[in-house]
Amino acid sequence: MTEKVRRHYDEVAEIYDLRYDKGVGRSYHAHISEQVMARLPQGGRLLDIGCGTGLFAERYRQRGGRAVGLDLSPGMIGRARNRFGNADWVVGSGETLPFREARFDAVSSLLAFSYFHDPDRMLAESIRVLRPGGKIALCTLGRNFLTAGLPALHSLGELARVRQVGMGSFGEHYYSGAQMADLFQHAGFIDVKVSRCSFAHLNLARPVYELARKVEPLVESRLPYLAFNLVASGRRPHDRR
Ligand SMILES: C[S@@+](CC[C@H](N)C(=O)[O-])C[C@H]1O[C@@H](n2cnc3c(N)ncnc32)[C@H](O)[C@@H]1O
Repeated sequence: MTEKVRRHYDEVAEIYDLRYDKGVGRSYHAHISEQVMARLPQGGRLLDIGCGTGLFAERYRQRGGRAVGLDLSPGMIGRARNRFGNADWVVGSGETLPFREARFDAVSSLLAFSYFHDPDRMLAESIRVLRPGGKIALCTLGRNFLTAGLPALHSLGELARVRQVGMGSFGEHYYSGAQMADLFQHAGFIDVKVSRCSFAHLNLARPVYELARKVEPLVESRLPYLAFNLVASGRRPHDRR
């Protein structure tokens, strides 16, 4: 399955930014990036796992930080290198990080966590490479009535040979907020916080998207079960054994 994910992102690497770095896609990505950014220390050394074309790493860098991006797909990493060459871009798996212990102040991961077959291992690796007191924040599709139908939709997309970013049956996992909190705590993180975000979906037509964006803050604060992404964060304790 990992090979299938890699192949898929290699194939869509050239069109990825058209979806997430233009029009409503850019606005959507900016929104989730802010949610993740708000939970991380600024100006530190960041590892972005499943960095794709480097969209979040670039934002972190614009705020004065340094960033290393790691991704399974050489095609996506190639695009990230084109975005800005003067950063470390690494082809590799988020479940086996090729970095020494306590190297980073922050770890992020956007729209990639659902692909990890061994989320415990990804989180264990993340806490290992974080310095004591370092923070992790990620954003991923949560488990709800929308994502329940996605595997079937993905299979249909494959049958119809639709070339869509993220479309395919890759054995993704969608977690509830409680499951995500358990995963973080089990890995040893403290100050664990999980909330829901995103009501405006990038597939919506522009006017509908704009409307959904307007009510998004209300949905996120008052009707969170209608929001489809999870934002989860935690901190490596100082006395971790
Ligand atoms: C939807 S894209 C998100 C990219 C980027 N984080 C963003 O926000 O634009 C998912 C990315 O996760 C990467 N990915 C999936 N499984 C991975 C794994 N096990 N290790 C590292 N990267 C992975 C894919 O190659 C792809 O680039």
